Amino acid sequence: MIRNNLQKFKKERTLVLIKPDGVERGLVGEIINRFEKCGLKIVGLGIVRASKNQIDRHYPKTKNWIENLGNNFIRSCEENNLKFDLKKDLGVNNIFELGLMVRRWLIDFMCSGPIVKIALEGNHAVEVVRKIIGPTLPYKAPPGTIRGDFSIDSPIVANLEKRALKNLIHASGNIQEANFELKIWFTSKELLN
Ligand code: PPS
Repeated sequence: MIRNNLQKFKKERTLVLIKPDGVERGLVGEIINRFEKCGLKIVGLGIVRASKNQIDRHYPKTKNWIENLGNNFIRSCEENNLKFDLKKDLGVNNIFELGLMVRRWLIDFMCSGPIVKIALEGNHAVEVVRKIIGPTLPYKAPPGTIRGDFSIDSPIVANLEKRALKNLIHASGNIQEANFELKIWFTSKELLN
């Protein structure tokens, strides 16, 4: 029982995608270096051009997740005292449609250039990777994190430019998400044991 649990914790796996902005800016080596240096093991690696279908499967389609994207949009406008009319300015009728619009921007961005997919393994891999990359919004991410060191993008600028946030990396948010996402990006043969 102890041995099984030990293996479960030591071999936790997570998915990292270096997004097109990270690849275009030549940050692949630097990013991988940070994960390796802290002790995480690479158990899968590849560079791919993702299809719209693959990205569509990757990002959730639940009402909750999509409305959350819409609410993020509204929150960043409110924080910057920007007022807008959903219908007149954005051509959408409600928060859900707004979220769908942001989700389409995300899909277009993820398909706009090559992506590097990485499967990482190690103690608390999901949590450790999220700590190393830093919070979602680069301009708020502290120095020392990947997003804090290499990007200053902000949602308000992204929203006004009608594009996804360029935050360099996607990383699974929890173990369940990691298991789901690893299956989208790697076949079992492509992952080392
Ligand atoms: S996270 O990091 O997954 O917990 O972030 P979350 O806040 O749940 O956001 C989900 C994904 O949407 C991206 N995002 C945005 N894109 C465009 N514009 C805005 N304003 C915006 N806010 C969040 C965010 O980067 C998440 O995608 P991934 O690929 O996970 O980074």
